[in-house]
Amino acid sequence: MDKNTKFILDACCGGRMMWFNKNHPNTIYIDNRKTKKGYVNGKPNHEVNPDFIMDFKNLKFPDKKFKLVFFDPPHVFANENNDSTFIKCFGRLNKETWEQDIKGGFDECWRVLDDYGVLVFKWSECNIPIKKLIEVIKKEPLVRSMRRGLSKTHWLCFIKIPN
Ligand SMILES: C[S@@+](CC[C@H](N)C(=O)[O-])C[C@H]1O[C@@H](n2cnc3c(N)ncnc32)[C@H](O)[C@@H]1O
Repeated sequence: MDKNTKFILDACCGGRMMWFNKNHPNTIYIDNRKTKKGYVNGKPNHEVNPDFIMDFKNLKFPDKKFKLVFFDPPHVFANENNDSTFIKCFGRLNKETWEQDIKGGFDECWRVLDDYGVLVFKWSECNIPIKKLIEVIKKEPLVRSMRRGLSKTHWLCFIKIPN
């Protein structure tokens, strides 16, 4: 791992669908699983191939390593045995533990973020409204994307200003 050039973290990269360059040279991509291309019932692939398999609640990086962190965790409640294409591609939220999971992941992303670094948190209000999410993470974003049409997806932006 190159300390000097890898200053961006994608903390749960999935299939890297949101990336223009899916192999950005300054980025470390992590996820807690690895899946092969084409596993979704004959549909065009959805490969999950992180640089490291890691839990976002327990990041194996030093404090303040990254200048920019993306956090796009699962946002839909589903049972362990749910094998829908959506859940296979994007993961699931556990109804019992989601608050600890999301707060734990957010706190770790914050810990590895450098002073004056930026955290971008993508969230879809499928099951949990933004207001509740902010109560859980206990940190107020600077801005969010405004809702357009029927989209439930929001981009929240935070900066780490040292005390
Ligand atoms: C909404 S998807 C990310 C989509 C991705 N941003 C994209 O552009 O395709 C959420 C991802 O979080 C991963 N994930 C769930 N729990 C995790 C954990 N504890 N640690 C790391 N990744 C996790 C899932 O495997 C899933 O790939």
